[in-house]
Amino acid sequence: MATNIHQHTSRCTSTNENINAMSVHLYNYSKSTLDIIFVVAAYELWFKQILHELDSIRQMFTIDQLGVDERKVLLLVSRLNRIVQIQKLLRDQIMILETMTPLDFMEFRDYLAPSSGFQSLQFRLIENKLGINKVHRVRYNFQDYSKVFDSQDRKQIEESEATPSLLVLVQEWLERTPGLEENGFNFWGKYRKSVEVMLDIARAEAENEVDEEVRATLLKDVQKQEASIGNKVLPKASSTGDRRFSYKAMQGAIMIYFYRDEPRFSQPFQILQLLMDIDSLLIKWRYNHVMMVQRMIGSKLGTGGTSGYQYLRSTVSDRYKVFVDLFNLSNFLIPRDFIPPLSSSMKMRLRTSLVNGRLYESDSALCSDSSEDDQVPAVTSALNNVAIGTRSTTAGDFCD
Ligand code: HEM
Repeated sequence: MATNIHQHTSRCTSTNENINAMSVHLYNYSKSTLDIIFVVAAYELWFKQILHELDSIRQMFTIDQLGVDERKVLLLVSRLNRIVQIQKLLRDQIMILETMTPLDFMEFRDYLAPSSGFQSLQFRLIENKLGINKVHRVRYNFQDYSKVFDSQDRKQIEESEATPSLLVLVQEWLERTPGLEENGFNFWGKYRKSVEVMLDIARAEAENEVDEEVRATLLKDVQKQEASIGNKVLPKASSTGDRRFSYKAMQGAIMIYFYRDEPRFSQPFQILQLLMDIDSLLIKWRYNHVMMVQRMIGSKLGTGGTSGYQYLRSTVSDRYKVFVDLFNLSNFLIPRDFIPPLSSSMKMRLRTSLVNGRLYESDSALCSDSSEDDQVPAVTSALNNVAIGTRSTTAGDFCD
């Protein structure tokens, strides 16, 4: 009798009973199967916890939640960190399966067919809620990945595809990073100028080099820099096609990277780090899993109907990286000396936090903010002084 361990364990409410019943059943079949039953059951239970965390994180990322109270950012960081810690467990649990010999596994493989991790509903929900886009998925046998699910599960998958993923919510949050306003601090305008100056200096230094050979090498280097950073940040370079985030969200992320030592950016910086951790741990799990699969079944077809090892190997790639743009942020980094200095009013904004829709500053000078370097009049500046993810507030909200 075939059974689907993934579906079974993810659906059970009284987990212990169900797992016990199934393991006794399979244990009779082959003693080594006990490993798989427990390991899969443990995976599905942790998947459940990850989904629970992901739902609450997505809820917190909405404007209504985070936009009125920045104290929630701390909770957000701790929830993201919990997912990361669970993922570390999941990545390492693969090793337990590797203690089974391929011959042991062969004994009961037919028993498991056509059951496969490919039918793990919770795994697909995690992927979708994180933001893996359907168009980036590897198709097997020209089929949609959701075809293997029954109508009830497929409904859940469709819902998870339709609701805003973490990727989308993070993008919206980054787009509201304070300091991006063109009529305010205008970070991107300043940054682009810095890049131009940096490239001009490098070019001038290269051209002044007397040694012909060294000059040629230096000029080549400048050209390379122009092709990488220059093409990405200078005018008209808004879309390179390889990005998931909007241009504005990228600007917000770069700004957080540069000024992460400022109080209001230090937790957002941690969030960006944790999002990358989540991505890289998922990829590391995929890698460990595919290595184990090759060891167990070589290049035989998977019980779920895919090409097995070949299929899984193709999923260990950037197409399955949700926050790939954060990994590529390093392309935009420039030496510290060229990072645009913060204006005094911008510094003030980054020392202020939003609590219950009101701004609390560590420096009382905030309310008479009239920095000429941001070219924003006092009231407008205060109005612009919204937190990351804040909806507009009235001027009266800023000072008691
Ligand atoms: C000896 C143990 C295992 C073997 C030989 C194995 C083999 C495979 C194969 C061949 C696939 C490709 C789909 C197909 O079946 O055609 C697959 C997919 C998958 N397996 Fe396993 N697996 C094992 C254990 C596990 C465990 C313990 C989990 C825990 C959750 C798991 C989760 C998954 C998931 C989520 C997928 C879908 C991956 C994707 O489509 O990106 N597998 N597995």
